[in-house]
Amino acid sequence: MRVAVIGAGIMGAGIAQAAGMSGYSVGLCDLSPAQTARATSEIAKSLDKLVFSGRLESETAAAARSAVQACSSVAEAATGAQVVVEAVVEKLDVKQSVLREVSSVAQPDAVLATNTSQLSITSIAAAAPAAEDRVVGLHFFNPVVLMRLVEIVRGLQTSDATVMAAEDFASSLGKETVVCQKDSPGFLTSRISAIIRLECLRMLEEGVGTAADIDRALCLGLNLPIGPLELGDRNGLDTYLLVLESLSRTLGDRFRPTVGLRNLVAAGRLGRKSGRGIYEYSADGTILRAGQRV
Ligand code: NAI
Repeated sequence: MRVAVIGAGIMGAGIAQAAGMSGYSVGLCDLSPAQTARATSEIAKSLDKLVFSGRLESETAAAARSAVQACSSVAEAATGAQVVVEAVVEKLDVKQSVLREVSSVAQPDAVLATNTSQLSITSIAAAAPAAEDRVVGLHFFNPVVLMRLVEIVRGLQTSDATVMAAEDFASSLGKETVVCQKDSPGFLTSRISAIIRLECLRMLEEGVGTAADIDRALCLGLNLPIGPLELGDRNGLDTYLLVLESLSRTLGDRFRPTVGLRNLVAAGRLGRKSGRGIYEYSADGTILRAGQRV
């Protein structure tokens, strides 16, 4: 079965890898060929690591590597696909135009999924009225290969059959699912993770503690597996800013981005992917310096 992944950033690379590891033939594309090339090399590195740590058979890794095909256009990736997962930048108009294009080339009964972390599924689906019953939120978490949850989000017009097909697809990747029954900004997860990280940023900017101590406090005191500030760096501060801008429009002022976050993004300090965010990173992605001034 053919799966198309549109957008080869942090999430697209992970989703393509997870699908390749589960035996799907995957077409992966991005607006930027450099991003598609970067994703291909990240996937190869991640597969090697999984084999090295004994978590994946080398045959499965080799099969996954050849299952993921780097494509140069949406049409090349999505033609004939039965499942399309869009993981492009968190902007409604961009997601709508990708959906419009994929709906014209994928199988007529394909599941058209979006990995948006908080945008309205119904609004994205409105760009392809003839296919709106097949549009669904399929919200993966970073890093996709390791995180167990996929949040399925039902748009106003999403059919029961599409929700079931989305659940089956997520299960086939070895994921657990929850269904967000109402198309509500930030779904079941992102509105919580966004607000926790925002409060951490506010504390950092008020000088209440260093980034390292805020993260350590939440890990050791509240039992989080990773500090919200470090996770923000991993997920991309540019994406987080887009998420907050959108959530503050829909859910109100409590999601208003901080000045410090805007400054980090303006300075190109996007997190681990750019080598520097709230923390500073070495070339292999480990933290070099804790608790940068913001
Ligand atoms: P990213 O910034 O790493 O990658 C986005 C990619 O989309 C870029 O490579 C960009 O070139 C590409 N793109 C932009 N316009 C495009 C178009 N018209 N056609 C094809 N590709 C295009 O972002 P990331 O983090 O991978 O996020 C992607 C989506 O996943 C967003 O909707 C985000 O909200 C969502 N998400 C992100 C998570 C995270 O932890 N980063 C977690 C869960 C969801």
